[in-house]
Amino acid sequence: SADDGYRLWLKYDRIQNTTISATYSKSFNFIALSGNSDILNNAVKELQTGLTAMLGKPIPIVKTPVINQGGIILTISANGASGDGYSIQMQSGNTVITASKDAGVLYGSFALLRHLQQHLPVEKVVVQSSPKIQLRMLNHWDNPEGPIERGYAGSSLWKWYELPETVDPRYTDYARANASIGINGTVVNNVNASARFLTAEYVHKVAALAGVFRKFGIKTYLSIHFAAPKTLGGLKTSDPLDPEVRKWWIEKTKEIYSIIPDFGGFLVKANSEGEPGPQDYGRTHADGANMLAEALAPFNGVVIWRAFVYKADPNADRFKAAYDEFATLDGKFAKNVIVQVKNGPIDFQPREPFSPLFGNMPRTPLGMEFQLTQEYLGFATHWVYEAPIFKECLDADTYVKGKGSTVATIVDGSLHNYRLTCMAGVANTGSDRNWTGNPMAQANWYAFGRLAWDHTLSPEAIAREWTQLTLTTEPKHVSAISDIMLRSRDIYVDYNTPLGLSRPWTGSHYAPEPWQNRSSRPDWTAIYYHRADSLGLGFDRTATGSNALLQYRPEVSRTWLNAETCPLPYLLWFHHIPWSQKLSSGRNLWDELCHRFYTGADSVLWMQKQWAGVASSIDPAIHSDVTGRLAKQYNEAIWWRDAWVLYLQTFSKKPIPAIYPKPE
Ligand code: GCU
Repeated sequence: SADDGYRLWLKYDRIQNTTISATYSKSFNFIALSGNSDILNNAVKELQTGLTAMLGKPIPIVKTPVINQGGIILTISANGASGDGYSIQMQSGNTVITASKDAGVLYGSFALLRHLQQHLPVEKVVVQSSPKIQLRMLNHWDNPEGPIERGYAGSSLWKWYELPETVDPRYTDYARANASIGINGTVVNNVNASARFLTAEYVHKVAALAGVFRKFGIKTYLSIHFAAPKTLGGLKTSDPLDPEVRKWWIEKTKEIYSIIPDFGGFLVKANSEGEPGPQDYGRTHADGANMLAEALAPFNGVVIWRAFVYKADPNADRFKAAYDEFATLDGKFAKNVIVQVKNGPIDFQPREPFSPLFGNMPRTPLGMEFQLTQEYLGFATHWVYEAPIFKECLDADTYVKGKGSTVATIVDGSLHNYRLTCMAGVANTGSDRNWTGNPMAQANWYAFGRLAWDHTLSPEAIAREWTQLTLTTEPKHVSAISDIMLRSRDIYVDYNTPLGLSRPWTGSHYAPEPWQNRSSRPDWTAIYYHRADSLGLGFDRTATGSNALLQYRPEVSRTWLNAETCPLPYLLWFHHIPWSQKLSSGRNLWDELCHRFYTGADSVLWMQKQWAGVASSIDPAIHSDVTGRLAKQYNEAIWWRDAWVLYLQTFSKKPIPAIYPKPE
């Protein structure tokens, strides 16, 4: 059925296979609920909606469960799985979902529906599952006027001008989608925050959203403008150590909680890319964060303070900036502060080494920030499945407490016993009917939620699951689509930023402009990052260069330190390599670059072919939408290839190997 992708992975298509449908029908005749709350009622409603749609029969709610009649029993029990967790068991022919919190029952209900949407045997649903991360959040970079910073799926979902009186039913579907993958927090506005969100007028609008989200176990947070005491409060300063300023935040926070009693807290971008912050007053990030923490503590609110900082210094290495500013502040933050770190040291590049901050702040909870919106990944045109990006970072070993000290064990709190754990995804949603512009980008939202819940899941398992829920259950087609997904990121990297290149974009971060050498900031040019010259290409971060590798443990830096043995995907992140130098692939640098650009672009033809082969089982509207995007992706891959090859050739002075066609 054509719904233009609106229903996401919650389609609940009617099960056509009669054997499966008959077995399910026998197992699900009623839903029994003990307890009563908005969240529990939403769990029941979702089960009814899903089962009725899949089985084509109504599922009544009963007061007392009937033994051996086949039904679902939802129970809250103190012995249930801890935190937001749930268990699903089979007892006397019934499926029993138990949790210690209402939200756990909701998550268990979605887990059951997910299982059935994949047409798996009922008895195999038995599971006990608890999230590995406490705060599983989306960060929306939405501005009050409607546009979304780095958003490619229309404008904001939040209709500020209508709120709070008019509450769009779409907010409910947004909350359902998030709850279905375990997301339990959302920051509704841009980190480049307008102070306007702290006015009573806007807090009431935000409260209306929070009123919807709360019924799905989701807390609402705000990004704040650090200089709000001045710009909004009319104070002379926003110095975090000034008593008047502290009082202003305490009063403001009280006001917010009087309107939104379960408000989550503040997300802060400070002294970063021109945003105000404590350093404007000679204070530290910790001073700034602790002032806000003091205001939030009485309400159990948290401060999520971002570590995305770097100075406009042409001689510094931006790679080192976050570590340099934050590592020394370890242990100086209040109890309810989380420092949120982007996965890589620069900025969501198609492939980055993990941020060296991970592992180096054992006494400060570090949260992970991933980017779902495809700022550097071809916006809503190019098909890039991001789970491999997330996993690569989570699985990276920091060695800070010996082998096995992966980034995941830091972020989930197990390595350093963090009190708070957090994983955030910069949202890729917008007002487009299908939420994410490119329907295939829904998978990135989905994969983020699933990994925030359980970072041990594999990109492949998530790709298959998402495909089955969203596109088709036809086994061959599920495999064909997940093959595209799993290769898509490497294909993009090959024609866009192979071998560890970064930031070759125009200011929009879409078009190729590796030759860009002028900008309002020296570190916002392309040449700052790739360092092409007559000798070679790449940023030397060894001892002969910026020595950023020193920020990692020796076991880690060792793998990258030597140009001969450095894995090719990271080579130009750490080394300036001569054009004629032979690489581990057997080709010299220039030939290897040509090889990547050309095969990368060609691989988009493979994606097109695979996609054409699954047409028979995909919603035709979605199929043709993606077909169009892939055609554009191919043209743009050629554009990228040619831009890079012709530009780099002005330095390498080498011919393009004859096996490849001439640039167009
Ligand atoms: C990137 C992005 C900005 C964003 C910033 C951030 O630099 O281009 O739009 O504001 O990251 O994460 O704060």
